[in-house]
Amino acid sequence: MRVSTPIDPTTTPAWSELGTLRESFSPDLRGWFAADPARVERMSLALADLHVDLSKNLVTGEVLAALVRLAEQVGVADRFAAMLAGEHINTTEDRAVLHTALRRPAGARPELVVDGQDVDHDVHEVLDRLGAFADRVRSGDWLGVTGKRVTDVVNIGIGGSDLGPVMVSEALKPYADAGIRAHFVSNIDPTDLAQTTAGLDPETTLFIVASKTFTTLETLTNARLARDWLWDGLEGAGAIGGDEASRTDAVAHHFVAVSTALDKVAAFGIDPRNAFGFWDWVGGRYSVDSAIGLSLAIELGPDVFRDLLAGFHAVDEHVRSTPLERNVPVLMGLLNVWYTNFLGAQSHAVLPYAQQLHRFPAYLQQLTMESNGKSVRWDGTPVATDTGEVFWGEPGTNGQHAFYQLIHQGTRLIPADFIAVANPAYPLSDDGRDVHGLFLANFLAQTKALAFGKTAEEVEAEGTTGALVAARTFPGNRPTTSIFAPALTPSVLGQLIALYEHITFTQGVVWGINSFDQWGVELGKQLALQIAPALEGDADALAAQDASTRALLEYYRAQRTD
Ligand code: F6P
Repeated sequence: MRVSTPIDPTTTPAWSELGTLRESFSPDLRGWFAADPARVERMSLALADLHVDLSKNLVTGEVLAALVRLAEQVGVADRFAAMLAGEHINTTEDRAVLHTALRRPAGARPELVVDGQDVDHDVHEVLDRLGAFADRVRSGDWLGVTGKRVTDVVNIGIGGSDLGPVMVSEALKPYADAGIRAHFVSNIDPTDLAQTTAGLDPETTLFIVASKTFTTLETLTNARLARDWLWDGLEGAGAIGGDEASRTDAVAHHFVAVSTALDKVAAFGIDPRNAFGFWDWVGGRYSVDSAIGLSLAIELGPDVFRDLLAGFHAVDEHVRSTPLERNVPVLMGLLNVWYTNFLGAQSHAVLPYAQQLHRFPAYLQQLTMESNGKSVRWDGTPVATDTGEVFWGEPGTNGQHAFYQLIHQGTRLIPADFIAVANPAYPLSDDGRDVHGLFLANFLAQTKALAFGKTAEEVEAEGTTGALVAARTFPGNRPTTSIFAPALTPSVLGQLIALYEHITFTQGVVWGINSFDQWGVELGKQLALQIAPALEGDADALAAQDASTRALLEYYRAQRTD
C-alpha cells in the first residue's frame, strides 16, 4: 500500500492513546532509571557507527510504544518505501525525491529506474566525472590561465548549495591533504565576496558556481562579481589581455559550475564540459552528496567524498530494513513529535561536542525548518497540529557559557541532541591531561545534569540556605539524546547528516507535510526584485510600497553617501 493522501494524525487511535498518556504524564527520569536497570540498554541503539542513547528522553515504554503505533497508523514505512522507489512524493512540484539514490553504491540491486531514467547510471557517471575533475585539480593537471596550479577554490552558492559544503568542509578539515583551501561565498552582501577574495590570487583561484536552478539572485550576482574580480586581477597584472577571447579563456580556466540547468550555465559563459549536473529530484537542502559537493571532492579528495556517501548509504539501509521500534531516525522523529505536539516544546537544540561540527546546527536549520516549517499538508489541506520546531545550537562547550542556563533552569522545555566523538582529530594534552577527555567530561556532565538535576535537599546538604536554595536547584527532567561515534570520519559525518534527513522526513510524514518543497521563500524573493528599483530612486517603485517600507527606503536614500 502507498499512502497518497495524508492521514490526519490526530484521528488515529495512537494519537488518542498519546493524549491519554499525556494527561497523567509525570516525567521522572530519576525514578525511571532507579526502577528500571535495563532502561539504558533497551534504549541504546546502534546506527551504523553511531551509538545512540535515547534513555534520557522523557518517555516511558508505554509512550514509546504508542509513538511507534502512530508511525504505523500514518504509514511512515510506506512513505519511506515510496520515497526510496522514486514515487512523486514531492506533490507540489510533481517530483520524485531521490537524494538517497545519490549514495547508492555502484551495482546496487534492484536497479533504480525512475520516470524512464536509469538513476544509478546517471549518478555514477557524474560521480566519476566529478572525481576525475577533482583529481586533475588536486594533482596540478588542471591549471589556471597563466599555467599556475590551483591553490584556492571558492564555492559560490547559497542555501543548500552552500550550507552543506561549508559544514562538511569545516567538519573534515583534517582530511584536506592537497594544499588546496576551500572558501565559500553565499551572501549577496558584497562584503562576503570582497572579504573572501581579499588575499586570493586570481591566477590560482578556481570558482565553482553552485546553483540547482542557476537563477538564484545572490549566486548569479556573486558569480558576476567574481568574474569581474578575475578579469580585473588578471588584466591589472598584465597576465591576460582585455579582449573578448582572453576573457573567455580566463573564465574557461577559472570557472566551473554545478547545476540542474546546464543550458543556463552555458549562457553564463561557463563551458558545459566544465559543468556537473544533478537532477530535479534532489532538493537543495538534500544536495551536499550530489555534485554540489564538488568543492569537497577537490579539497578533501574523491575518496573522502565517496566515504562520506557510504556513510549516508549505511543509514539509508538502516532506515529501509529496520523495524520501526528499532529504527533510530524514525524513533528520534517520533520523539520530536511527542515533544512538539504533546509536551509543548517549540524548539530543539543540537549541541555538537566537536568543534569541527560548528556549522552543523546552521546546516540543520535549513534541513529541518525549510522542510517542515509548513502549515498545509501535501494535499493542500491545513495541518491538524503544530509542526516544525525551531532548530538551533552551538558547539559545546561554548554554548555552556552562553545559553545553557535557559535549558537547565528556564521555563521552557528544550529537547537537545548532544553529539560527541571518542577520538579527537587533534589529541592534545595539557600538563599530561588529555584535553579531549576534559571536553567529553563536559558533554557527560551536561546530559547528566539536565536529566537528573539537583534537588533542594542536595543543595541544602552542601550548606546552602535561604533563597539561594531555590536558585541553586536544578529541576532535571530536561530531555537529551546522546549520539556518540568513534571518531569524526567522513563516513560518520555522512551518517549524521542522513540521520537528520530521515528524522525530518519522519516528522513530515506524521504531520502530513511535503518536506521537499519551499514555497515559503518565494514571496520575499519576488518583493526584493520589486523593491530594488526603489533603492535606485525609481519614483513609481517607491510610491508602490507600503508606508513603513517607503519610510525605510527614504531613510536609506538619505543616508547613502556615495
Ligand atoms: O532558499 C530557497 C532555495 O531554493 C533553497 O531551497 C536552495 O537550497 C537555495 O534557495 C539555493 O537555490 P539554488 O541552488 O537553486 O541556487
